[in-house]
Amino acid sequence: MLFDPIEIKNLKFKNRIVMPPMCQYQAIDGVANNWHMMHYAARAVGQVGTIIFEASAIETRGRISMNDLGIWDDKHINPLGSIVKECQKYGAKVGIQLAHAGRKSRVLDETIVAPTATAFNDTFSIPHELTISEIKEIIIKFGKAAKRAELAGFDFVEIHGAHGYLINEFLSPVTNLRGDEYGKNKELFLKEVLEEVKSCFQNEKPVFLRVSGEEYHENGNHPESLSAMLSKLSEYFDALHVSSGGIYEKEKYNIFPAYQLEYAEKLKHILHKPTIAVGRLENPELAENALIAGKADMIAIGKGMLSDPHWALHAARKLGVDIEWPESYLRAKGLV
Ligand SMILES: Cc1cc2nc3c(=O)[nH]c(=O)nc-3n(C[C@H](O)[C@H](O)[C@H](O)COP(=O)(O)O)c2cc1C
Repeated sequence: MLFDPIEIKNLKFKNRIVMPPMCQYQAIDGVANNWHMMHYAARAVGQVGTIIFEASAIETRGRISMNDLGIWDDKHINPLGSIVKECQKYGAKVGIQLAHAGRKSRVLDETIVAPTATAFNDTFSIPHELTISEIKEIIIKFGKAAKRAELAGFDFVEIHGAHGYLINEFLSPVTNLRGDEYGKNKELFLKEVLEEVKSCFQNEKPVFLRVSGEEYHENGNHPESLSAMLSKLSEYFDALHVSSGGIYEKEKYNIFPAYQLEYAEKLKHILHKPTIAVGRLENPELAENALIAGKADMIAIGKGMLSDPHWALHAARKLGVDIEWPESYLRAKGLV
């Protein structure tokens, strides 16, 4: 099944293998460069079906670091666009993760922001608690970023709602202690972001949503509470990408093969959305079995793909599936 095509909102993906967003911390002023071209195009040549560009900040104080990729300005469009075009040449569908780091930003010379004025830990500054009008400004910036993504030629966008960054901070009872409507309705901020993104992004193109399906905190979100919120927003996103953690400094969890798969499975079965599972799934048989068992619809391979840009070609060989190799590399196809 890993090499079966899948369609999400009229967009056809040639296989079910996803390169998940992975920050490279190589950009200056948010602008993509040769590193990003080499990094993404190499995986497209390696026949991954879907590439999701790393967390790209919708405003400067929304960067995790000073070297994050950005999409807060029109100057970002062309450098991103040439990489997108190159990846699409090799048959990959390409998306970009639209992100805001919230209280987990380490940018210099800017006030960082969050739903509530509590720091992630002692090494981060205390964030400024966003006012309602400031929240609305951020929502508009998500929409503008989506428009830029469209102009750069991306096939879809992914909204970063995971890992304890701004959207996750609104969703979680651990970090959202507000008394206003954004506190009583923890999914409201995400709903408004999705609505704005949908209205600014080309209508027929899909919007993916990445979430932390488990927050590893007794008062935090678990698949059940999260899906109760997401079921109200179902019309605003087309696919779900299920990760975990990041909201709480002292979270404790074990990382083992397929450690997050159960969260993807639960959310998929409650929300009935095409679902990407991620997290130590780089063993091709394990990835294949997760699909066969109906626990997910697509499989993202992060570190496995950093270590091997040709992960998909090698997985096909291991699973005995004959897929197309890039012409220039054909003489390597038979090697074992
Ligand atoms: C170097 C690196 C950078 C990452 N950056 C992001 C990111 O920009 N956005 C995001 O949602 N997750 C990010 N992640 C998490 C990955 O997308 C993925 O969920 C995680 O690595 C688990 O999958 P794996 O076990 O296959 O590596 C990053 C992971 C790595 C290793």
